[in-house]
Amino acid sequence: MTQKIIIDTDPGQDDAVAILLALASPELEVLGLTVVAGNVPLDLTARNARIVCELAGRPDMPVFAGCDRPLARDLVTAEHVHGKTGLDGPQMADPTMPLQDMHAVDFIIETLRSQPAGSVTLCPLGPLTNIATAFRRAPDIVARVARIVLMGGAYFEVGNITPAAEFNIYVDPEAAKIVFDAGVPLTVLPLDATHKALTTADRVQAFRDLGTEVGRMVAAWTDFFERFDKEKYGSAGAPLHDPCVIAWLLAPDLFTGREINVEIEVDSPLTRGMTVADWWRVTDRPANALFIGGIDADGFFALLTERLARLS
Ligand code: BDR
Ligand code: CA
Repeated sequence: MTQKIIIDTDPGQDDAVAILLALASPELEVLGLTVVAGNVPLDLTARNARIVCELAGRPDMPVFAGCDRPLARDLVTAEHVHGKTGLDGPQMADPTMPLQDMHAVDFIIETLRSQPAGSVTLCPLGPLTNIATAFRRAPDIVARVARIVLMGGAYFEVGNITPAAEFNIYVDPEAAKIVFDAGVPLTVLPLDATHKALTTADRVQAFRDLGTEVGRMVAAWTDFFERFDKEKYGSAGAPLHDPCVIAWLLAPDLFTGREINVEIEVDSPLTRGMTVADWWRVTDRPANALFIGGIDADGFFALLTERLARLS
């Protein structure tokens, strides 16, 4: 049976690879892409999502533009990582497929109301503004969500945008708090896992060796994207954060984690957006997330490469 998902995203090179992985995987039925402001402003994330759909040969995929700013704060973007367009690297023509007229939040609400309860999984790959807005506006949909599988947060790895916080949670901590407190089954792919999914030279070469347009684009995106992380962390390549979300859906055995309590810091200027993860269970706060700490990186890249090979 296929799993129905909505991908909520702010592409981003790693978001783009996650979208390709989902579209290449027959186990998943992508009902639509909802885009949010994050890595770059909304007009660019809406453009980039459609570029990726066209690259995957899926101009029929509905793409919905959502919230253009966080619930209660100014937008913080990450051009220093992803470049001015958010998808810097190879030259990409503007997409020709349309953006849907409906707002992303309305699409999320309508889809959860019209699909059988417990049949749709939400996959947020950016700030959680669209999801939190949908939950606030239509509380009846919360109990209908099968699971949320998101990229965000950190524990041992702490922060990438501040010393304390990971980018997606930092940008809209109020939205993250709504989502983490919602009571929906939640899987979190934090930096602790994604920083182990590194694009080494061999792994990027394997994308290039596919000999397809998709293989060339993914290699070119990772080439661009990894310069930042190599410089910052001295690592062998870039972490492919967002594809870990889709990989967890496809092959959860590649990952290890713990059911723990995770709270979001919203008040402190110093630690805004920190995911306070009770990894050692030192409180009696109830678990609200499966927090992933380990990944079989070779298995992850083998899965990713095999799936990308199915696209032309
Ligand atoms: C997250 O932030 C973005 O820059 C990436 O696309 C990923 O979703 C990593 O912190
Ligand atoms: Ca992202």
